[in-house]
Amino acid sequence: MIKDIQERIAQLKKEKDVCILAHCYQSHDILEVADYVGDSFGLAQKAAKAEAGTVMMCGVRFMAETCKILSPEKRILLPKSDAGCPMAEQLDVDMLAQLKERYPDHAVVAYINTTAELKTLCDVCVTSSSAAKIIKNMDADKILFIPDCNLGGYIAKQVPEKEIKLINGGCPTHAKITKREVEAAKAAHPEALFLVHPECIAEVTALADFVGSTTEIMDYAKESEAKSFIIGTENSIVQHLGIECSDKRFYPLSKDLVCHNMKLTTIADVLHCLEGTDGEEIALDEDIRLGAKRCIDEMLRLGNG
Ligand code: 13P
Ligand code: SF4
Repeated sequence: MIKDIQERIAQLKKEKDVCILAHCYQSHDILEVADYVGDSFGLAQKAAKAEAGTVMMCGVRFMAETCKILSPEKRILLPKSDAGCPMAEQLDVDMLAQLKERYPDHAVVAYINTTAELKTLCDVCVTSSSAAKIIKNMDADKILFIPDCNLGGYIAKQVPEKEIKLINGGCPTHAKITKREVEAAKAAHPEALFLVHPECIAEVTALADFVGSTTEIMDYAKESEAKSFIIGTENSIVQHLGIECSDKRFYPLSKDLVCHNMKLTTIADVLHCLEGTDGEEIALDEDIRLGAKRCIDEMLRLGNG
């Protein structure tokens, strides 16, 4: 059945000139029909270069907005309208305007997990895999990092030469993981390496053998000589690695490490969106798009350089 749906998707994709981009947290059957799978930075790079007339973003809303910001001439589709990122909604423009008044001499660095509207007030975007490099490459020495204090705190340790001001925000899925859960997972699997996402709290990342973005975690596990791993990020990564590296063992750090927004999109939704019976075409006000584009362009310039 899934195979039938996937075959129909492959056919429609060709007929309708659609490129499918999928974040690593999507289910494995969606990854199999995607033209590109990656972390947030990789997806932004692909969005800037995609050749098809239509791009479908299987992920959450801010990722589809990033595609539209970079490729306004294309149709950008989000298969499930209500797939949002709760972190992206934590700050609104008024709250950020107040923060900027409080820290007038700080450059504003926004995690890409923010709305297009919020990006218009920021200087540069970053992702988990590009943040340290971008902040090092910036001229500014004083940074206001929004909204993820866990990622920001982790990056601040790698860039001690800059003063990084953090605010109280973060990913509800990763930030709830406790040191005690890590200790329990390590006690249950003492031979396993512990790989974790920097959206987790500092007490958790401090216990890791490797800290990285979703793609970096997957690459590390694939290339490592080790045979077993505790995965400290969304549990879809446990599934993908188990399928791609069947000679290795992958254990979820917690069965609660599930992003329900990333899980909203199913393979059937991808088909319905291609058929034109479901999903949303992303539209952005041109002023907002241009304002947000400035800091995404800056991210690609400083992150690729
Ligand atoms: P990366 O894929 O860049 O690691 O980001 C993880 C995430 O939470 C995306 O929303
Ligand atoms: Fe947002 Fe966290 Fe889900 Fe990523 S995992 S989409 S940061 S809530």
